[in-house]
Amino acid sequence: MNIGQLLTLRAAAHGPRRGASLSDVGIIQDAAVLCVGGKIVSIGSMKDALRDPWLRKNRKKVVEIDCRGRVILPGFVDSHTHPVFTHPRLVDFEKRISGANYEEIAAAGGGIRSSIDGVRKASKSALTQKVFAALADLSRHGTTTVEAKSGYGLSLESELKSLEAIRAAAREWPGTVVPTFLGAHAVPPEYRGRSQEYVDLVCNEMMPAVAKRKLAQFVDVFCDRGAFSAGEAAHIFAAAEKHKLAVRAHIGQISETRLGPLLQYQPASLDHMDHVNDADLPALAQSDTVATFVPGANYFLGLAKYPNARRFIESGAAVALATDYNPGSSPTLSMPMAMSLACTHMKMSPAEAIAAATINGAWALRLAESKGSVEAGKDADLAVFDVSDYREIPYWFGTNHCMLTIMNGVPGGPLSP
Ligand code: NIG
Ligand code: FE
Repeated sequence: MNIGQLLTLRAAAHGPRRGASLSDVGIIQDAAVLCVGGKIVSIGSMKDALRDPWLRKNRKKVVEIDCRGRVILPGFVDSHTHPVFTHPRLVDFEKRISGANYEEIAAAGGGIRSSIDGVRKASKSALTQKVFAALADLSRHGTTTVEAKSGYGLSLESELKSLEAIRAAAREWPGTVVPTFLGAHAVPPEYRGRSQEYVDLVCNEMMPAVAKRKLAQFVDVFCDRGAFSAGEAAHIFAAAEKHKLAVRAHIGQISETRLGPLLQYQPASLDHMDHVNDADLPALAQSDTVATFVPGANYFLGLAKYPNARRFIESGAAVALATDYNPGSSPTLSMPMAMSLACTHMKMSPAEAIAAATINGAWALRLAESKGSVEAGKDADLAVFDVSDYREIPYWFGTNHCMLTIMNGVPGGPLSP
């Protein structure tokens, strides 16, 4: 109660926000939200809430949180993270500072491959602790739903171990975790020069084992120069379809890949999208596939260029924002940081950044029925920010103003009014 600005992000029409509707955050001033049993039951003005007959009768049974004029919005939906790793990549960090780029570092044995050893040697419980620590940190920054990828094990055993760690950590966290199998993140050293054989292993051994154990909802592939080709990505998507797993991909981070052949598999999301051919935008806009930007990676890799978000938004494509939390290109768990970068470097407005980080993130995970907006019937996932205007959320970069998150009705993080 006593919410200064409630950003509802309530639906104006069906489907993800596109074009002008991306700026419509659905503000209610002086608002209240009533949650029961992990669900949102009603939202409205404080005046209406105080007059509500049910609430008047049951007021003593209700736990009231006095927000004292602060901003409340749907918990962020971070639709792209890689939390299953053991060590920060500090050598890569220093090499990049001395002038090496992402591809050069990978070619010299750094990059994704340098995280494999740690994951292969780690016990499942050690990985579970790492993932849980990341989830706890995410919720401290306002995130209540997170997609979590495997992808640093790159063997049958270590990919299963990674996904099991995600599952075990998710059980301890009150928020919602969507697991993704990213066996095709890099060709591991023992398959060097035999990428097709590794793709066969991913499709014929890893994926059936993941599907059988119900360890993932999505299959992802890093489709780019130095990783997997568009043909290999299509092969992986086709195998996922056979196992009834939905798909998403890393696309266009380093080099351009044409989207047409991949859009046929109806990916929930295509992520990074730094290098995209303009001619592909109409087909993307026609589809339900969300373009997910991860500006934390551009920032951390020290790139001068960011994806041209305005071009995507104007074409009618649905866009989302995510952290891409990982030890190589984006070691941040902060959605407000990703939003701040989207505003300053991609010219998205604060309102657009918020919609991209909430309701469109939910669409990117196919969870928009229950996540991403504050509406009666949806899960009680809320973030309270210690600011009085929502535009302050991306404005104050580098400090955390989230003071409370509520995940499926369960409060997390310190409340210090
Ligand atoms: O999304 N691009 C591929 N995967 C990650 C980077 C992973 C890593 O460097 O460890 C990304 O940026
Ligand atoms: Fe990624």
